[in-house]
Amino acid sequence: MSFSFPDGFLWGAATSAYQVEGSPLADGAGPSIWHRFTRTPWLVPSGDNGDVACDHYRRYPDDVRLMRELGLNAYRFSVSWSRVLPEGTTQVNEKGLDFYRRLVDALLEHGMWPLVTLYHWDLPAALDNRGGWLNPDVAHWFADYAQVMYRALDDRVEMWTTLNEPWVVTDGGYLHGALAPGHRNLFEAPIASHHLLLAHAAAVEAYRAEGEHRIGLVVNIEPKYPASESAEDLAATRRAEAYMNRQYLDPVFHGRYPDEMKEVFGEAWPDFPAADLERIRQPIDFLGINYYTRSVTRFDSTCLPLKASGVRQKRHAYTETSWEVYPQGLTDTLVWIKERYGNLPLYVTENGAAFYDPPTVEGEVQDPLRVDYLRNHLRAAHQAIAQGVDLRGYCVWSLFDNLEWSLGFSKRFGIVHVDFETLKRTPKASARFYSEVIRTNGKNLND
Ligand code: BGC
Repeated sequence: MSFSFPDGFLWGAATSAYQVEGSPLADGAGPSIWHRFTRTPWLVPSGDNGDVACDHYRRYPDDVRLMRELGLNAYRFSVSWSRVLPEGTTQVNEKGLDFYRRLVDALLEHGMWPLVTLYHWDLPAALDNRGGWLNPDVAHWFADYAQVMYRALDDRVEMWTTLNEPWVVTDGGYLHGALAPGHRNLFEAPIASHHLLLAHAAAVEAYRAEGEHRIGLVVNIEPKYPASESAEDLAATRRAEAYMNRQYLDPVFHGRYPDEMKEVFGEAWPDFPAADLERIRQPIDFLGINYYTRSVTRFDSTCLPLKASGVRQKRHAYTETSWEVYPQGLTDTLVWIKERYGNLPLYVTENGAAFYDPPTVEGEVQDPLRVDYLRNHLRAAHQAIAQGVDLRGYCVWSLFDNLEWSLGFSKRFGIVHVDFETLKRTPKASARFYSEVIRTNGKNLND
């Protein structure tokens, strides 16, 4: 097999605002739900927060230079909504917006494509006070914010995405409570999901009115494989798959929710108006896929509301976040998207792994497990292209070790090591490896 990626392939790295920027309240910014969540003592056991994080807000010029040295031609980052609109609506904070103008300019100057995500989980706290994702007005709040961003940057930004991983926003934020805003409520989760989809749709409509380039959505997909052929395991696998992988894509591409949603949520699943689903179903220009792992799924009556749980695979490798390393799942996912939703342009917008990295010795961080993970997943992405998938780019998660949400700084996903005392950046062996993939357009994947 010889590896070579299509012309114009985007080679990027991804981050998100709250995880890397620091200075969350600088220059007139308002707090987000993550600012509050990390300040609520028992929610983030380590006590870590994004006050400093990687200090990307102030160090971005050096960071952009570093990305260029690594040979990246794209940088996927998110905008902090409350930096731009401290109250979430109405009053624009020009200084906050300026940060993104400067970041985009620096990327362009260095020949890199800015891939802008409008929402990566950090809702303005002021909007949470008004019900956050549970308030039906959130769709137009989001579209108004999106419009501010399009007007400021669409002359220079050619790829936009509305939401990052709506499933995680509701599962973590409204059902299980491990992520901000930390609610645990079966009845809220479907409402939040539906409003996220309406917000996505409203932001796409706003883009069609005045944007000139491309807009898409980013979802996380974790393919589900049944633990056995028993009817119970097969049904559990279908429920898990509908809940995580089809809940957002079926409405966007097919204009309906999977039937299994009613089965999963029971009386907590409302009948959503047909007109909303019409609105949600509208063409997008590309889809971003975040892929980390798979799940082998079995029936489990104790694991609610899905009545399904994952089975740990003996003799398989797992990352520090207990995710199975399963590269074939990336090929399967990309091919599944093509078969189920059509052959639209796809990007792997996140892929990567947290591993324990040995201490830096003489300026080097050796992370052989991450190198291996990336090599095998890039081969798997290539395999999908060989099977006819229109894959146009790949972003590693993450450029930096950063704040892994409620797990704090304990889980390192970066290809660049960050010393959280000194904030010094040290490219790991995986960064060197990835650079070489980019330089040779994949030829070193043969080795
Ligand atoms: C998110 C990132 C997160 C990563 C690793 C993705 O779900 O988009 O923000 O850090 O996974 O958990």
